[in-house]
Amino acid sequence: MNVPLPKLQQIPHAVASVHDYEPLARERMTAAAWAYLSGGAADEETMRANEAAFARFKLQPQVLQDLRGGHTQVSLFGQTYPSPLFLAPVAFQKLAHEHGELETVLGASAMQVGMVVSTQASVTLEEIAAQAATPLWFQLYLQADRDFTARLIQRAENAGYKAIVLTVDAPLSGIRNREQRSGFSLPPSVSAVNLHGMRLPSMPSVDPSGPLVFGSPLLDTAARWNDIAWIKERTSLPVLLKGILTDVDAERALAYGADGIIVSNHGGRVLDGLPATIDVLESITTAVGGRVPVLMDGGIRRGSDIFKALALGAQAVLVGRPFAWGLAAAGAVGVSHVAKLLRMELEVTMALMGCRDLANITRVHLSN
Ligand SMILES: Cc1cc2nc3c(=O)[nH]c(=O)nc-3n(C[C@H](O)[C@H](O)[C@H](O)COP(=O)(O)O)c2cc1C
Repeated sequence: MNVPLPKLQQIPHAVASVHDYEPLARERMTAAAWAYLSGGAADEETMRANEAAFARFKLQPQVLQDLRGGHTQVSLFGQTYPSPLFLAPVAFQKLAHEHGELETVLGASAMQVGMVVSTQASVTLEEIAAQAATPLWFQLYLQADRDFTARLIQRAENAGYKAIVLTVDAPLSGIRNREQRSGFSLPPSVSAVNLHGMRLPSMPSVDPSGPLVFGSPLLDTAARWNDIAWIKERTSLPVLLKGILTDVDAERALAYGADGIIVSNHGGRVLDGLPATIDVLESITTAVGGRVPVLMDGGIRRGSDIFKALALGAQAVLVGRPFAWGLAAAGAVGVSHVAKLLRMELEVTMALMGCRDLANITRVHLSN
């Protein structure tokens, strides 16, 4: 087994971009935890496509624009954020750093980026909120135990979270071969502490004469469209759906009362063969037509990627693996540095493209 290196105490000068964090993170995690964090579903085609697809969109700058008073502020659900960058929900962050989400929220707070906390966080949502000096959203996996789920929503609202993000693309785990081959399992010190005390459905043994997966209680109790109303009856917070990939589902989301949409394929971790998110974004922002905010994630590694997503109609973006690399490499300092790099690259891109604020970023700035 590899022995992870100690965390970096300061950031080496050679760390100039988000990509530079990947090898530094890898050396500081066990091979199995690294397989969990960095892997995707099956042959990882969707995961690779998420990153690669950005390169097909080319920038079309407008020179000699007035850039005075420029900024990257965005308003979402009544709250103003200094930039359109959020940290995506990433489960079990204690795998990357012994303090897990408590370390992440310090880094997020230092750079004032919003953070979405996973249902499967390895620290309680209340402890994270107590450390936060930046707005938090709560990512919800609807649980078979609906009473427990209702209490979870209430806990998030009581702790001051600003939105509920219902993840809709993972009623069960994807086929994650890289993780399986590594022999990954959660160490005893890491668990989904926010779900402690929940009633778990009993898992019947598989009868090979019947379906191998469809008999699972996970699918019997998985979220359905009517559950959005059920959630909205239990909270006054805005409810976003994370994991929408088609204009048809975006329309359904609005019809069923979603307050926002996150275009996502879960970073290519659930179903291999899905399209890159940046390739489907425009069809969704067009269908939504500004009725609710549309966010996106998947493959964002550069400020210019954020710019491209905004040019295709997104109001904001989330990053997953990049901040987790920062966390694994250097704790809170790594997280905040990743956020700083991306924010700075976005501003440089905007200035060179002739856009002094986010409203100025439009489709004419992309050639594809
Ligand atoms: C290790 C890991 C754990 C994740 N856990 C969750 C989760 O608990 N809930 C969720 O909705 N998405 C989860 N995601 C997906 C992210 O929220 C996000 O959609 C994805 O990471 C974005 O792609 P990127 O990593 O290329 O930025 C996870 C992603 C990773 C890498």
